[in-house]
Amino acid sequence: MSHSLAVATEAGTAELPILATPAAVAAHVAHLREQGRTVALVPTMGALHAGHASLLEEAGRHADAVIASVFVNPLQFAPGEDYERYPRTLAADAELLSRVGAEAVFAPSPEAMYPTGPNTVVIEPGPVGHTFEGRIRPIHFSGALTVVNKLLNIVRPDVAVFGEKDAQQLFLIRQMVAQLNLPVRIIGVPIVREPDGLARSSRNRYLSPAERASALVLFRILERAREASAAGVPEVLQIAQSAIAADDVAELDYASVVSEQTFQPVPDDFQGQARLLLAARFGGTRLIDNALLQFSPHGGAR
Ligand code: PAJ
Repeated sequence: MSHSLAVATEAGTAELPILATPAAVAAHVAHLREQGRTVALVPTMGALHAGHASLLEEAGRHADAVIASVFVNPLQFAPGEDYERYPRTLAADAELLSRVGAEAVFAPSPEAMYPTGPNTVVIEPGPVGHTFEGRIRPIHFSGALTVVNKLLNIVRPDVAVFGEKDAQQLFLIRQMVAQLNLPVRIIGVPIVREPDGLARSSRNRYLSPAERASALVLFRILERAREASAAGVPEVLQIAQSAIAADDVAELDYASVVSEQTFQPVPDDFQGQARLLLAARFGGTRLIDNALLQFSPHGGAR
C-alpha cells in the first residue's frame, strides 16, 4: 500500500515516504517517537503552494519531524461542489514537501479513511460552524473537523499547523481541541499572498484571466480597510460593499467584522482588534480572505 517516491531536490535526491494507510503512518510515527523526536502535523488537501509551504516551515520550527497529510476529504464537500475536479497533484506535492524538509506524507484513499463510507460518526462543529462559510456550505465544517480529528488521532502529533487564510476553520479547530480535550497544540500561520496580493489558494487556478483580475478586489478592500479602520466598523463594511458592487465580476457572499474570541460579529462601536472576513464569487469560483484590523482612534495592527 505504501511506497516512497524518489524526488529530485536542490540538495540531491531524497526519499519521501508516502504512507497510504492509518496503520502505516502510525508505525512511522512510532518509529520517530522511539528516536525521541517530536512530531508536527500539517493537514492539507494537496495542490500545494507557497501558503502550504509556509505552514510546513512553521511546523519545522516547533517539532523535530514534520508529517504532511494530502487528502481531498469527501466529507467536507457538498454535492455540486468541486470534489471531483479538485486538483490532485501528488507527485508535484511530494516534491514541494521534500524541498521544505517534510519527514513523510500521509496520502490515504477515501476508503482507507472512511472504510464504512458515508455511514460514519461525524463531529458537530457547534453554532459557529453554521455561520459564514458554514451557512453557505452547511456540511463543510462537520466534514473538515471530522477529518482533522481523525488525522490528529492517527498521527498523534505534538503540534498541528493551520493557516489564518481559513480563519473560521482555524477558530473551529482550536475550539474542538479545547472543548474535546485533544492533547495537541494548534499553531496558526499568517496568509501567504501572490506578489500582487491575491491570497494563495488551490482554487485560484479555476479563475479565468478576467476573474483573476477581479479577484484582487479582496486584497484591495483589506488594504483600504486597514487604512480606514480607525473610522470604525460600519465604515469598513461600507468600503467592502461598495468595492464589490463596483466590480463587474465579483458577487459578495458576506463581509463581516468578527471577534477573535467568539467569531461573532462585533458591534458598530467596537474598539480593539477584530477580523474582517470577506467571501465573494468570481464566476464559478468562491474565494475567501481576511485580515486582523485595529479598530480604535489610534494605532494600527499588522
Ligand atoms: P487546504 O485548503 O489544502 O489547506 C491546508 C492548510 O493550508 C489550511 O490550514 C489552510 O488554511 C492553509 N492555507 C491555504 N492557503 C493558505 C495561504 N494562502 N496562506 C496560509 N495558509 C494557507 O484547509 C484544508 O485544506 C482542509 O479543510 C483540511 C484542514 C486539510 C481538512 O481537510
